[in-house]
Amino acid sequence: MKFFVDTADVDEIAELAATGLVDGVTTNPSLVAKTGRDFKTVIREICALVDGPVSAEVAATEADAMVEEGRSLAEIATNVAVKVPLTLDGLKACRTLTQAGTMVNVTLCFNANQALLAAKAGATFVSPFIGRLDDIGLDGMELIEEIRQIYDNYDALSTEILAASIRGANHVKFAAMAGADVATVPPGVLRGLVMHPLTDKGLDAFLADWKKTGQSIL
Ligand code: E4P
Repeated sequence: MKFFVDTADVDEIAELAATGLVDGVTTNPSLVAKTGRDFKTVIREICALVDGPVSAEVAATEADAMVEEGRSLAEIATNVAVKVPLTLDGLKACRTLTQAGTMVNVTLCFNANQALLAAKAGATFVSPFIGRLDDIGLDGMELIEEIRQIYDNYDALSTEILAASIRGANHVKFAAMAGADVATVPPGVLRGLVMHPLTDKGLDAFLADWKKTGQSIL
């Protein structure tokens, strides 16, 4: 499973990209607003830091206007993935942009039929929002399982399942178990994945014993 980082904070991305664990980045208008910075400048900086897809979301709601915005975003760098909402206009724009060779991430997916349509429209990625479904008492992970099953039924559907709206380590684990192709993870959650108290305790003990040997490796 690939890891994308879900943030528009360039410093966070630079720090995480240095670990080699970041395969791409997703942003959305809310994340961009949080930075208080110019959208296209932020996307340009992120694209220079990360080789993989960087999602940049359109703000228009009508297909032709989405395509125009998408083209403008795609000009920023070759690794921009234009993000469009899962509406009929969004799907129409998705088809036009993908046919022109632009990566498209169809976002705000909340059920399996929507994901099927996104794949039919040629989406590069579909983003089911796990956390927001859990928030309203539904099971976000079940949606990942359903989409995986549907996509696996048809060779012609090559859209990647990008598990989004991830709130914690269990979401990452279960998304991987359910066969999501990508998980987009907030920086804090990504950092948390490596942690285990027994790792820390074990390392402390090994280092203390190593000191007793009086040896040095180099
Ligand atoms: C991903 O592309 C989305 O922007 C993001 O995962 C949404 O997460 P949220 O539900 O925590 O806002």
